[in-house]
Amino acid sequence: MLAGGSGTRLRPITHTSAKQLVPVANKPVLFYGLEAIRDAGVTDVGIIVGETAAEIETAVGDGSALGITVTYIHQDAPLGLAHAVLIARDFLGDDPFVMYLGDNLIIGGITDLVEEFRATTPDALILLTRVPNPSSFGVAELGPDGHVVRLVEKPREPRSDLALVGVYLFGSAVHEAVRSIKPSARGELEITEAIQWLVDSGHDVEPHLVTGYWKDTGRLDDMLETNRHLLESLEPAVHGTVDEHSSIVGRVVIEEGASLVRSTVRGPAIIGRNTTLVDTYVGPFTSIYHSCTIEGTEIEYSIVLERATIRDIGRIEDSLIGRDAEVIPSSALPKAHRLMLGDHSRVSVATS
Ligand code: DAU
Repeated sequence: MLAGGSGTRLRPITHTSAKQLVPVANKPVLFYGLEAIRDAGVTDVGIIVGETAAEIETAVGDGSALGITVTYIHQDAPLGLAHAVLIARDFLGDDPFVMYLGDNLIIGGITDLVEEFRATTPDALILLTRVPNPSSFGVAELGPDGHVVRLVEKPREPRSDLALVGVYLFGSAVHEAVRSIKPSARGELEITEAIQWLVDSGHDVEPHLVTGYWKDTGRLDDMLETNRHLLESLEPAVHGTVDEHSSIVGRVVIEEGASLVRSTVRGPAIIGRNTTLVDTYVGPFTSIYHSCTIEGTEIEYSIVLERATIRDIGRIEDSLIGRDAEVIPSSALPKAHRLMLGDHSRVSVATS
């Protein structure tokens, strides 16, 4: 499991912490990956960590809560996905393994793929999905017989719309591949090139097409859509408090310490730990994370992150509100919108 890299900006949420811990449906993306690996029967998990090691280790611990055994493998600098394989050599030995990029989410898990790999034992099984923006990914070109012909990392002019999904299954031949390649133009040992090395040297690289894939590439619509998908299979539960003037309709989770005062939540939706809703309506496909305060507001089809405050501002839809953000009215004169927006923010103000 790759959870290294530097704490650089993640669009559309600008922050400096581990991007693998961004929550979707109130669960960090990394956890969906770890659970998918566990559900496929793989419980010995090496996690590659870098600059944000402390944050990842605090969140995952020894893995026992998830039913896995975790070994942390420190990577001094993000020198590439193939570099991660290189430094994990002792941990991996010659065993076949799953390599999972911690910022990728595959709805429906990877159990079928691991079973297919176990049954057919190719040197590599790669996952592909059709995307509208292939130049943001590794791109695969398949021959007329469906075999992998060429893999190119973030090509300016992609030869197909088949992106490499960040989950790979490898046999031990990949170790020679990662030792044989040289750093790319961006200075990284690319796993894409290591797989190309396997193809070129006559190894068996099997492609597999998947749907239901998400990775943050700065597209808010994708994030909201993935949130929607995940909320649809939520197990309803109320652990917080709901006063007599509040109501809950449909598939809703109210986490511990959350409280609803004169508020309505219409699911699928999740209200995070220690979040308070007062005189508020939360509509379908909304995830409100931990320790938020929302008052006098209607919000629907949106994601709100930790400790955000939203008060008396009418109705919000199709929105992502970042950590510690404040959205509040002002009666100060001159009457104006006063904004302090982070990098890459986007605000659409409803005009009457
Ligand atoms: O997400 C799929 C894409 O992932 C593939 O289509 C590309 O072919 C593949 O190269 C990779 O592209 P990215 O450039 O988007 O990878 P990123 O730098 O986001 O790294 C993926 C994960 O691996 C992320 O959770 C950080 C972690 N990582 C990354 C590097 C470079 C490490 O742990 N160590 C590293 O050295």
